[in-house]
Amino acid sequence: MDSIVVTGGGPLQGEIPIAGAKNACLALMPATLLSEEPLTLTNAPRLSDIKTMTTLLQSLGAEATSLQDGQVLAMSSHDLTSSRADYDIVRKMRASNLVLGPLIARMGHAEVSLPGGCAIGARPMDLHIFGLEKLGAEIELSEGYLHAKAPGGLKGAQIDLDFASVGATENIVMAATLAKGTTVLTNAAREPEIVDLVRCLRAMGAEIDGEGTSRIEIQGVDRLGGATHQVVADRIELGTYMLAPAIAGGEVECLGGRMELVESFVGKLNEAGIEVEETKRGLKVTHTNGRPKAIDVTTEPFPGFPTDLQAQMMAMLCTAEGSSQLNETIFENRFMHAPELTRMGAEIEVQGGMATVTGVDKLRGAPVMATDLRASISLILAGLAAEGETVVSRVYHLDRGYEHVVRKLRGVGAQIERVKA
Ligand code: EPZ
Repeated sequence: MDSIVVTGGGPLQGEIPIAGAKNACLALMPATLLSEEPLTLTNAPRLSDIKTMTTLLQSLGAEATSLQDGQVLAMSSHDLTSSRADYDIVRKMRASNLVLGPLIARMGHAEVSLPGGCAIGARPMDLHIFGLEKLGAEIELSEGYLHAKAPGGLKGAQIDLDFASVGATENIVMAATLAKGTTVLTNAAREPEIVDLVRCLRAMGAEIDGEGTSRIEIQGVDRLGGATHQVVADRIELGTYMLAPAIAGGEVECLGGRMELVESFVGKLNEAGIEVEETKRGLKVTHTNGRPKAIDVTTEPFPGFPTDLQAQMMAMLCTAEGSSQLNETIFENRFMHAPELTRMGAEIEVQGGMATVTGVDKLRGAPVMATDLRASISLILAGLAAEGETVVSRVYHLDRGYEHVVRKLRGVGAQIERVKA
């Protein structure tokens, strides 16, 4: 297993291109299952999760080809041959469960493995099942698989989610595009990835209103056509790289970043004394005056502070002036980066969903271990300004969600390299 070695250094300077959003692409790809016509995605990120989803779609009989060094995904589901998503794929990537809604809508049946546990939490699918059953699907669990069928097709319904689940919203919206009649989904997730998915579905001929709000209305249609869609910029990669100069000092412009993708996150950076400027090309972060200020952060569904930026923000707060409270409300076990940061000299106390970070002057490089996707990048961020060398092992976690990390950080002057196992 490869490692990444970061040597703490001085201020960063330069620009980092932001890729297409992993979590938009992982919902956009299953949308191909809804139509017999080709669906092409541009600005796709080059990530192992995208490769996993490509393999899954191919196992269902879809054509899925990666072009232009992975930036274009050409897909077509004219002749589907299976509606079964195997455990060995789903356990590697929970987002595989996003084929459930499209398969029921297109084929009238699906067998999708439950994802099983995940490092950051139990991550059940009760809300997905609730919504799809409201649309008329009959779903039962046996031998670890969800067996779903809708022999007479799906029918529009009123669906009120108890929690604004991103994945449940995506599965329900995709299924409802081919249901007979009107579906109204309330307490829907409002993430930019949902907005991007709806824009693509609309380009395919779906009739949907309200994306980005808590109430989404879908008029079912008989069939969907093809489309070419550009994947929205990745707001989590954007926020991650905005934290690099906040931690190491300097000035970095994140190309392709847009303020509306990260408003609550930027509000917290400003509170910590970090300057953010929207330029014609993206978002520029400048931090040249000492340590950030301590702040309190609570993760919430969009437009609140994103849980996917919690680990990265903690890395910055480790050297802030004062004590910060980080309240993780979305996942039950998303502080696994804390003990690793503590190995670097951070002072963090975790109690349930609350972490208290007491800022220290400097972290010290150390061998640390990546435990999940966002934890791994937070360790790299911490290493940018730590004294000495930080060696992050198990970087396969990183490859799931960050393309070309070494190249992008080297491009702004970081001392970082990937060491083959
Ligand atoms: C999406 O996961 C993202 N993944 C996650 O990003 C992100 O952290 C999460 O949304 C929250 O923003 C993708 O988009 C591929 P949820 P998802 O359904 O859809 C509970 C990353 O690092 N829940 O909004 O699985 C669940 O257990 C990943 O890129 C139920 O209880 O998130 C969790 O505690 C990590 N029942 C909370 O809701 C359900 O049926 C949020 O889950 C569904 C979810």
